[in-house]
Amino acid sequence: MRTFYITTPIYYPNAPPHIGHAYTTVFADTLARYHRLIGDDVFFMTGTDEHGLKLQRAAEKMGISPKELVDRMAEKYKWYWSLLDISYDYFIRTTHDYHERLVKYAMNKLYQDGLIYKARYAGWYCVYCEKFYSPSEYIEIDGKPYCPTHRKPLEWLEEETYYFKLSEFEDFMKDVLKNRHIVYPESYAQEVLGKIEKEGLRDVSIARPKERVWWGIEVPFDPNYTVYVWFDALLNYLSGIGYPEDMERFNKYWPEVHHVIGKDILWFHTAIWFSVLKALDVPLPKKLLVHAYLINRGLKIGKSAGNVIAIEDLINRYRDSNGVRYILMRLFNMAKDVEVTTELFDSIYNSELADTYGNLVRRVGVLAKKKLGGTVEADEIDEELGKPLRETLEKYREAMDNYDVSRALTTIMDLLRRANAYINEKRPWEKEDPSKQLYTLLETIKYSTIMLHPVIPKAAEKTAEALGFKITNPYQEPPTTQTKYLVKQAPILFKKIKP
Ligand code: MSP
Repeated sequence: MRTFYITTPIYYPNAPPHIGHAYTTVFADTLARYHRLIGDDVFFMTGTDEHGLKLQRAAEKMGISPKELVDRMAEKYKWYWSLLDISYDYFIRTTHDYHERLVKYAMNKLYQDGLIYKARYAGWYCVYCEKFYSPSEYIEIDGKPYCPTHRKPLEWLEEETYYFKLSEFEDFMKDVLKNRHIVYPESYAQEVLGKIEKEGLRDVSIARPKERVWWGIEVPFDPNYTVYVWFDALLNYLSGIGYPEDMERFNKYWPEVHHVIGKDILWFHTAIWFSVLKALDVPLPKKLLVHAYLINRGLKIGKSAGNVIAIEDLINRYRDSNGVRYILMRLFNMAKDVEVTTELFDSIYNSELADTYGNLVRRVGVLAKKKLGGTVEADEIDEELGKPLRETLEKYREAMDNYDVSRALTTIMDLLRRANAYINEKRPWEKEDPSKQLYTLLETIKYSTIMLHPVIPKAAEKTAEALGFKITNPYQEPPTTQTKYLVKQAPILFKKIKP
């Protein structure tokens, strides 16, 4: 059996997730569900990134301890992910003891290998990113340095710290980015490569003095320091599948690891993560899947920009997870930012889910009940739809294997539109025995529903139940395997949204 390991970034639980986080998480969930559908042994992990100054300050503001805050918020994340039907196999928290053990083990290893040294640091810091910015990276507003992502003023920091010798990995990184095809889409690899070629790889600070940042994992060789939150966080991808304590589990999944991230954290997941892995003698990930932003009024959606769209508002508008998941995946774009508008969301929901898929299911269900009492038998499929159906199954697989969920969905919609047109042309309601037409339509619905299952699992299961088929691997049980349908109901899956 093939394995498939997929991760999301672990999110900062200083605030609840919004649709930007949902965008990433639903995408990872869709890939996880697709791989389960085609028979892979999947391990899908998400979680929360619980240490660091940002969390420490958020807790201070609320007058509670950071531990209380992260305990509360981790539950909140799980609640949101259940609202959205996120089928994670494991939820990792960086405050788990085995994770802390790995972080200490890794720090010690790098220290013993001479890759960590102590020196003074001075620079501009963005606490929202938990990152230092060099003069070529930050922007200036009124002559003062600001974070280019969050547009918030940077803080000046000066302290004794421990550095990781990232500079030693410059040639390694250039080679990886040029030759290894890990980063997808490839343009992001070029972006990082360009930056390294221009500025070189500079050593990074990987510790914080406890008097400033006490909420973190203690540096094992110096109790006056905590580990830099990004170094801590990245290691979740290893600790979450058992490294180094359960090497059997680790060896099973690690060769197939796919990290899904937004482009905001590309640098950490390439320059830093790949170098840390190299330093730890762990093979690099199979794929780093990078996507662009959801934007609102031209700005990346985020708490600091104040343009957040709440997950629950969308769930309320589209009634449950299906509509929200479908819309996000239909618009999903790895290369380009996507502007969120209610009009666009509504029109996708109405024209594709309600008028095309929902309408077809309803019409065919009603016809099967009325004309054949719900029992539809045939041994032949009408090639007018049978051929495009088989082609769609192939195109779907090709799109999904290339992480192009949006293209997979438009391909299914093309087929469903054809199926609606087929009913209009064949007029099965006028036929004495419309078995062949209805069987053909049911097969088309069945396989479209199976292909839609990773994106709209609840609605797909409802259709399967009503029309009498199972969600199974479509490449193992291809069209015409099932020769009889017992249609129970003609469900109304999606009610149109009035603008
Ligand atoms: N804790 C770090 C990640 C550590 S991973 C080892 C972090 N957390 S975060 O809460 O800020 O989440 C960032 C991620 O959320 C982005 O990389 C992206 O996946 C997702 N997004 C947040 N806002 C988004 C948009 N507006 N648009 C698209 N994705 C968004 O960074």
